[in-house]
Amino acid sequence: MAVLSVRRYGDPVLRRRARPVDEVTPEVERLVDDMIDTMYDEVGIGLAAPQVGASLRLMVVADEDGRGAQALVNPVIVEQGGSVTAEEGCLSLPGIFAPVTRAEWVRLEARDLTGRPVSLRARHLRARVFQHEIDHLDGVLFIDRVDAVTRDRIKRRIKKQGFAADAAAHRAFAL
Ligand code: NI
Repeated sequence: MAVLSVRRYGDPVLRRRARPVDEVTPEVERLVDDMIDTMYDEVGIGLAAPQVGASLRLMVVADEDGRGAQALVNPVIVEQGGSVTAEEGCLSLPGIFAPVTRAEWVRLEARDLTGRPVSLRARHLRARVFQHEIDHLDGVLFIDRVDAVTRDRIKRRIKKQGFAADAAAHRAFAL
């Protein structure tokens, strides 16, 4: 088990569409263990494989208290509804937060590591985590989902200042 370095905005792997996991090999199992360690180390509640440089449709999520880590293989949102806007952050854009409008609830289907089908319903923050992490699998970042003015402001800020060395402030919302 190991804490992996989280790829930051600008790394091309974050913009790639990840490929499905065909088989849960020992390498994939090790990757999941490392992703869980990394998520906890970063005090995140969700982490997608591209964020640690693996272009695979794989994510780990924790509950809202940061416990109960679970791996989801080839996750797909099959149903969603409602709309809610809330501040969002991303471990790949440390220190950057902006309001993002997303579905209020989702139903997600995936496989667990043993290949068993998993169907999860989530609302509020957990629904947001699912949508944010699945976006990562499609090469989409939360700043793509904010209005153009806010996005330009964020991009200018990153260009000028980079990312804060200590971006710990409300990291709990970073996905
Ligand atoms: Ni993220």
